[in-house]
Amino acid sequence: MQAIKRISQLKEEIRRLRKEKGDGTVGFVPTMGYLHEGHLSLLAAAKKETDIVVMSIFVNPLQFGPNEDFEKYPRDHERDLKMAEAAGADIVFLPETSEMYPRPIKTTVSVAEVTERLCGASRPGHFDGVATVVTKLFNIVQPDKAFFGMKDAQQVAVIRRMVDDLNMNVTIVPCPTLREEDGLAMSSRNVYLSPEERKQALVLSQSLRLAEALIRERSASPDEVRRRVEEHIRTAQLADIDYVELLSYPELAPVQPGQMPPSVIIALAVKFGKTRLIDNLIIEMGNSHV
Ligand code: PAJ
Repeated sequence: MQAIKRISQLKEEIRRLRKEKGDGTVGFVPTMGYLHEGHLSLLAAAKKETDIVVMSIFVNPLQFGPNEDFEKYPRDHERDLKMAEAAGADIVFLPETSEMYPRPIKTTVSVAEVTERLCGASRPGHFDGVATVVTKLFNIVQPDKAFFGMKDAQQVAVIRRMVDDLNMNVTIVPCPTLREEDGLAMSSRNVYLSPEERKQALVLSQSLRLAEALIRERSASPDEVRRRVEEHIRTAQLADIDYVELLSYPELAPVQPGQMPPSVIIALAVKFGKTRLIDNLIIEMGNSHV
């Protein structure tokens, strides 16, 4: 496995590997590092579906708000490189900020509507930062397929829409959320949780299962589902709810009472102390009523 810091070197190496593998296909897994099993599951999917697997590790300043955790975001390149190598990555791209943004960026990519709710509403500018860096990374790596986790379901919806709208030459492959044994969705930010917060954070996955049961029973309106989920989350004293929403997926439009779209997402963001966690569940309904 090669660890590469320069864009020019990365392009050259990908070109060489493609040739070596007889016009091999490139799979790309963009990350911000501090890898966990969730990231590695994306690598495994890429390895299965493509010939050359490229992972990027870059904490992108453009997608963090002024009061967010950009400086404190956990970083450990040495450990990440060992994990990526063991998982079979061919190349890990770890650019410095100055390599990705040698001067203030004047061109950004902005996706409308799907970015208006959920994390787009509570983190203004976040998805412009994501769409812009992912566009840059796609242009640099030129992957055939790129792998994204459904843990960030809104991110998948945004990237898919962007790729479709702008005719980008890449297939987006969504991959399932990996969870700890007790149900907590894996996240680089979980390391910030105190033991008590970690325990209480279980209400998130529990409340999603509760929502699923209510939706499948068709016994509750969208508003009731939200309320019941919020109630359950509030049983955890340390939980501070940012949002709980029930929307259509991938449009991320509000669900009208009595009208369940074929695919709905129940999505939540909750703070435990300074740590903001997100989780979601997508429920395939078929054409039916609540
Ligand atoms: P990051 O949070 O590091 O996540 C990188 C990829 O790993 C994303 O596609 C994310 O959805 C996926 N992922 C995270 N936790 C997961 C889990 N528990 N199970 C499955 N997949 C999981 O998302 C980003 O970085 C950035 O926004 C990025 C796309 C790299 C742009 O900067």
